[in-house]
Amino acid sequence: MRHYKLIKLNATKSTNDKVKMLIKSKKISPGDIVWADYQYKGRGQYKNTWNSSKGKNLLISVYREFKGLSFKQRNYINFVISLSVIKTIEQYISNDNFIKWPNDILSGQKKISGILIENNIKGKELRNSIIGIGINVNQTRFRNIPNATSIKLISNNEIEIEQVLKKLIKNIDEHINILIVKDFDQIMNLYNSKLYGRDFCRFLINNEIFQGKVINVNPSGSIIVEINGRGIKEYESNKIKILL
Ligand code: BTN
Repeated sequence: MRHYKLIKLNATKSTNDKVKMLIKSKKISPGDIVWADYQYKGRGQYKNTWNSSKGKNLLISVYREFKGLSFKQRNYINFVISLSVIKTIEQYISNDNFIKWPNDILSGQKKISGILIENNIKGKELRNSIIGIGINVNQTRFRNIPNATSIKLISNNEIEIEQVLKKLIKNIDEHINILIVKDFDQIMNLYNSKLYGRDFCRFLINNEIFQGKVINVNPSGSIIVEINGRGIKEYESNKIKILL
């Protein structure tokens, strides 16, 4: 197994922010992972917050370098990380797990994990990435968070968080290896096979709700959808939202 340093904290503002600080002070190397029991200002996509009860869930940020990957290819990091997370969830919950493009992992039509990847770019090259992952493990009550679930809520089992972490790290390494050998087709096929909404889903476009289905996601990270009565269209992630 690959060698890495695991930096375990009781509490921090956000594990992604902690990695940024450690990069500045040169106290972290590519491959290292920051793991916290609690975040007092956990961050989500689109400036949202990520709230998680103390000690109940997995909250990590993985610091990785992607040498040879161009800025344009950065979407593949999201694809391989989503695949790693869903594989980890599948090791506890056998069915009804999906990737809800662009960044959520669903189990039983509810959100079980969120991913926040922050890339450091220089020119056209990707320098490094901070890969923040939150997986709801043992939390069973989600106040003011609609559509959230956890491994415990679905499987009825209390799970050791460190065990989930170990499985996740192994799955991340395996999927990043597919990226290192540049098997982009395999990544796209795997990713598209896990997408939520391929039979039916609702979309929010310009504040209007539409029905249709997801066709696939392309390598540039846009989604191709079929909208009932409107045909097949392509959208970037800031133009369309998949509704639960
Ligand atoms: C989202 O679904 O909006 C993304 C949520 C990402 C949450 C994780 S928890 C660990 C890491 N640190 C953060 O502050 N955010 C990510």
